[in-house]
This record gives sequence, C-alpha cells and structure tokens, in this order.
Amino acid sequence: MQVPLLDLKAQYATIRNQVLAAVSEVLESQRCIGGPKVAELEEKIAAISDCKFAVGVSSGTDAILNSLMSLGISVGDEVITTPFTFFATVGSIARTGAKPVLVDIDPRTFNINAELIESAVTEKTKAIIPVHLFGQMADMDPIMEIADKHNLAVIEDAAQSITSTYKGRKAGSIGTAGCFSFYPSKNLGGIGDGGMVVTNDENLYERLVVMRNHGQDSQYDHKYIGGNFRLDPIQAAALLVKLPHLSDWSEARRRNAAYYDKKFAGTVVKTPYISPDCVTIYNQYVIRVPNRDELVNCLKEKGIGCEIYYPLPMHFQECFKYLGYKQGDLPEAEKAAKEVMALPVYPELTDEMKDYIAETLPAVLGDRALKR
Ligand SMILES: Cc1ncc(COP(=O)(O)O)c(C=O)c1O
Repeated sequence: MQVPLLDLKAQYATIRNQVLAAVSEVLESQRCIGGPKVAELEEKIAAISDCKFAVGVSSGTDAILNSLMSLGISVGDEVITTPFTFFATVGSIARTGAKPVLVDIDPRTFNINAELIESAVTEKTKAIIPVHLFGQMADMDPIMEIADKHNLAVIEDAAQSITSTYKGRKAGSIGTAGCFSFYPSKNLGGIGDGGMVVTNDENLYERLVVMRNHGQDSQYDHKYIGGNFRLDPIQAAALLVKLPHLSDWSEARRRNAAYYDKKFAGTVVKTPYISPDCVTIYNQYVIRVPNRDELVNCLKEKGIGCEIYYPLPMHFQECFKYLGYKQGDLPEAEKAAKEVMALPVYPELTDEMKDYIAETLPAVLGDRALKR
C-alpha cells in the first residue's frame, strides 16, 4: 500500500468544479490584482480568527516580513523566537536587519519555552515571535505578560495553526499581529503561495496595507520602503472555496490523530502532547521515536510517506553561523531535531491506510523495542 504524507489530489477531487469555476470567474473579470475575492477572503479570515482586520499577502513568509517592517523593526533591533521552526520565521527577522535571538523549546509541545524568554530580553529587544508549531499554539499568557512588561510587540507565527485555540482564543488574535500561510500543505492551502496578517490594531493594519504595495501611500508617493507582498486574487478565489471545509478537515485530522494516539499508547512511540489549554488543528502529527532515521527510511520503503520537521534547528543553519550559537546552547531543540518525525494525518486518509500505518510502524520498530 502507498500512503503519501499528504494527498492534495484527494482533496482537490472533492472541490474540483467549484475551484475551476472560482478561478474562471477571476479570469473572466480580469481583476488580476486585488479586487473583491481578496477583500472577501480578508473579511472571512478576520472573522474566523476573531480579529478586526486582515491583510492578504503573497505568502506566510511575507506575512511575517510585512509585520516586522510595519512595526518598524530593523537594524540594531533584536527579535526573540524559537530555533525549532521553518526557516521563514528566523529568515524574515534577519532580512529586516534585526538580530534573531533564539530561545529553547518546551520539549513536550515543541513550542518556545515561555519560561526562558525573559532572560533573553535586552534593551534592544523589540518583539517576540512565538511559532504555533504543528497546529498547536504556544503558551501565550506568559508570553504576553513578558511582552507587556517590556513593551514588546508579539507576532504570532500561526502559519501552521489557523483557527487553533489557546484558552478559547484564536491563533493570531492574542498578539499584536498574527501570520498565516496558505502554502498548499497547510490546513487551508491555496493552489500556490499566499498568506495573511490579522490584527486588532488599526494603525498597524493601515501600515500593513501600505507596506504590501511598496509602501505606496497614494499613487507614486512612497511613505515607506515596502515590497510587493500582494495576495493573488486567483489564490483568494480558490481559498474561498476551501474555507467552508476548513473546520471539517481539521476535525478529520483530530480524529486521525486520536486513532494513532490510541494505537501507539503504551509503546516507545511518544505521541504528540496537546496542552489542555489548546485545541490543535494537527497541521502535522509529530511523534518522537528511537532510531528515527532508520525508521523513516524503513517506512518510506514500505510506502508510508513520513517527513522530518525539522532536522536542523535554525542556530545550526550555515546562514545563521554569524549569530554565534554552539552545539548544546539550545539542547531541547537539538534533541527534538534528532527524534521527531511526522506521519500522514491528512483528512482524506482511509481506515485501511491508518490501519496499515498503525500495524507497520510497530512491526518496523520491532516488538521488543516497542514495549516501554
Ligand atoms: C512555521 C512557519 N512559518 C512560516 C512559514 C512560511 O510560509 P510560506 O511558505 O507561505 O511563505 C511556514 C510555512 O511554510 C511555516 O511553517
């Protein structure tokens, strides 16, 4: 049996006609930049995120970059974030000229360890970027407390966590701004790149809008040095078709995760820890296992798509050597990078596929190794 990590064709088959009609509508209108589809998506994403404002942008990366630029973060500033994330989080900080300051993770959730943040704050610190990894939000209360105390902005990197909650509050609605990605593998994925920033701060919203269009205030008057961060209306049209399904798709992911949790209980497979404060959307179902690399190779040979998110923490990336981190500086992130692997959890997984994974994984690990 072949089980891919993600099967976008299976999802597309269920909404093909609507996506084609929506894309065709944009093409017929020839509103190829901006327009009603982008505005409608912004309104709907703001609403499902319990935020007043939303700004469609070209990607999750540009959502973070635009947020940082609109908050005026640049050379000489410091921004605190996690080393255990996709490159875009830390890369965007560095692109503004600010210095990324990395704080280790909570080994249970893989999210930034809020207890370690305050000791990383200096007089240069301007913002914190908690990343809501794999679908689960970071521990936002202590993060907001530190931010309030030191007058810092908080940019939630919610690229993997649209509609997930922390103490009943939506991802993106707690910090100064929240950033979503519509990369096709996300729970709400476009048919190409796309992203969105949400905020409750009207001044920031106005800046984000101007910044995404080269900082242009009125035609050919450039108030800021911005960029082309605009969301493509074809993406907005496809996303509007998918949006009504998002909650069912995330529910199906939670059901699949619960199935694995049950099957792997009492084994050496460490299943995801979900805080009682959080409802996750399981953008990824990430387990910890012994002999991870060997296991990944064996599962791939048996037709099971699995992936390592993330094999190399940000402080070990060649381009961030200048930050001066050494082996052992961020031990929990380093350990996680050696032990984690993601299993297929996408909504269209069939019972047969899940059974196959649940039977194959223990068999590969070996019955003896699998018992605690
Ligand atoms: C945690 C995180 N941050 C940022 C991004 C960047 O999003 P995009 O790929 O849409 O630029 C991603 C997604 O790829 C992500 O997973």
